[in-house]
Amino acid sequence: MQLARPLSGAFLLLAVWWSLTGCDMAARVQPQAEPARPPVQAIASAHPLATAAGLEILAAGGNAFDAAIAVSAALAVVEPYSSGLGGGGFWLLHRVGDEKQLMVDGRERAPLAAHRDLYLDESGEVIPGLSMNGAMAAGIPGEPAALAHMAEHYGVLALRRSLAPAIRLAKEGFPVDAHYRKMAQFRLAVLQEFESSEAIFLDFGDVPEEGALIKQPQLARTLMLLGQYGRDGFYAGETADRLIAGVRAAGGIWTQEDLQDYRIVERPALTFSYRDMRIVSAPPPSSGGVALATMLHILEGFDLEQAGEAERVHLVVEAMRRAYRDRAEYLGDPDFVQIPVERLLDPVYAAGLRASIRRDRATPSRLLANPGIDAVAGNHTTHFSILDRDGNRVAATLSINYPFGSGFVAPGTGVLLNDEMDDFSARPGTPNAYGLVGAEANAIAPGKRPLSSMTPTFIESEEGIGVLGTPGGSRIITMVLLGILDAAQGEGPASWVSLPRFHHQYLPDLIEFEPGALSDQAIDDLRARGHEFKALESQYGNMQALYWDYRRNRVDVASDPRGIGSAAAR
Ligand code: GLY
Repeated sequence: MQLARPLSGAFLLLAVWWSLTGCDMAARVQPQAEPARPPVQAIASAHPLATAAGLEILAAGGNAFDAAIAVSAALAVVEPYSSGLGGGGFWLLHRVGDEKQLMVDGRERAPLAAHRDLYLDESGEVIPGLSMNGAMAAGIPGEPAALAHMAEHYGVLALRRSLAPAIRLAKEGFPVDAHYRKMAQFRLAVLQEFESSEAIFLDFGDVPEEGALIKQPQLARTLMLLGQYGRDGFYAGETADRLIAGVRAAGGIWTQEDLQDYRIVERPALTFSYRDMRIVSAPPPSSGGVALATMLHILEGFDLEQAGEAERVHLVVEAMRRAYRDRAEYLGDPDFVQIPVERLLDPVYAAGLRASIRRDRATPSRLLANPGIDAVAGNHTTHFSILDRDGNRVAATLSINYPFGSGFVAPGTGVLLNDEMDDFSARPGTPNAYGLVGAEANAIAPGKRPLSSMTPTFIESEEGIGVLGTPGGSRIITMVLLGILDAAQGEGPASWVSLPRFHHQYLPDLIEFEPGALSDQAIDDLRARGHEFKALESQYGNMQALYWDYRRNRVDVASDPRGIGSAAAR
């Protein structure tokens, strides 16, 4: 086991004190007083056909976990640019009855033949595109194992029943829409490169017209084998043989052992308190829960409601800056590196960070000591939120990383492989192909999971339960933060998903913001405090959220207006 860089300087003294005081976050959380059952069940997902698949399974007697399988598999078919059987994800589950709360970590793993310098040439330079495009970019998929695991341990229906809507969609096809066209155009070159991908996702080598049907009979068969044989239907037998043959013929390094060895991990959900709320979120190898805790603990010391717009943005940005500094320095796969999670979650640690914030000046990121940055993770991913009639709930964020992942379909399987290997630091300590610098804790190693920003989250309080999450690469965490801050002001899901967004990730040292997200006056004020800006040309994110209000016993559910998703309660 390799150690992540230890906490530095003054924080080390605090760390000793914390370990002596034995601070325990979860112990302080108040018990909830929820009504026995919600009045309706609800699903919000990034595609109407995936929401419909989940509703179909709920109507067939499935619970939230069966519906999560159905929605995940349907998204794998109808949103091939976001997630899929060739990718992975995090499924945050809450089961009523025993109140079990955990995260199914179905994150991809590096192939066993991978090594730290996998993407470097002989002179130690990063080879452009190798971790993004084609078979070399793909980690060992985790989604099929996660779906089989959830069916076996949490669902009430057979896996093949929950996969049925997705199999039908793969056979019968789904219509191309404007968003599909945009994503396919973005990845056109790599899709054209592989005949197996072009044949499925393009129309004679070009982006299909709106309304054209994308049929995926090979993916239907792969899903059927998964349904029939469980995880062995993917990680052994016909599908495994085809995956290995396809990847190796295309220059990749997967072996049968990689597939046989792949295991999901059930990880305890990461919990902490913010005001009167208990936040339940994703633990490492996601950076989301830890970064959320740092930001919210810092912000708990400020009266954001009383602050004007510029003051509020300044304080939130300074919290973001500090949390992303720590993300880069300390976080990676907890099975490979030791992460000081307890300390990072401790409000006393956050108090130290808060004390370093000047209200009148931005802190230049270069003055926050840090050797390296792992800034922008992939920018395409998907999220869905589910609540069933018993109160079971799922927040799931799934990914194949870039739009259409690696762009490579293993021939004969219909499985589009991820390019999640790009979420590792290709060369710790020095800039990678995108000008980003990575940290040692997230260096490549055989069997290791790349650090993720995916942040499926529950908000729990005496008043109700929120379920939320979004795609959006490194901006995922700050989008969820803004949603939680909005919830703390009493707003509901319709507001969380449509809020104007801004983001800071330590480096580059600037505030990114959506068109119209900040007033001109606030920008002038923030500039006078030393902040720099990047005005984005378009909006970002695709949040899917719901809230079960205990007091009114009512469920609100919302899908981000930026996307094409759908939210339903019935
Ligand atoms: N590939 C996106 C993420 O895991 O953060």
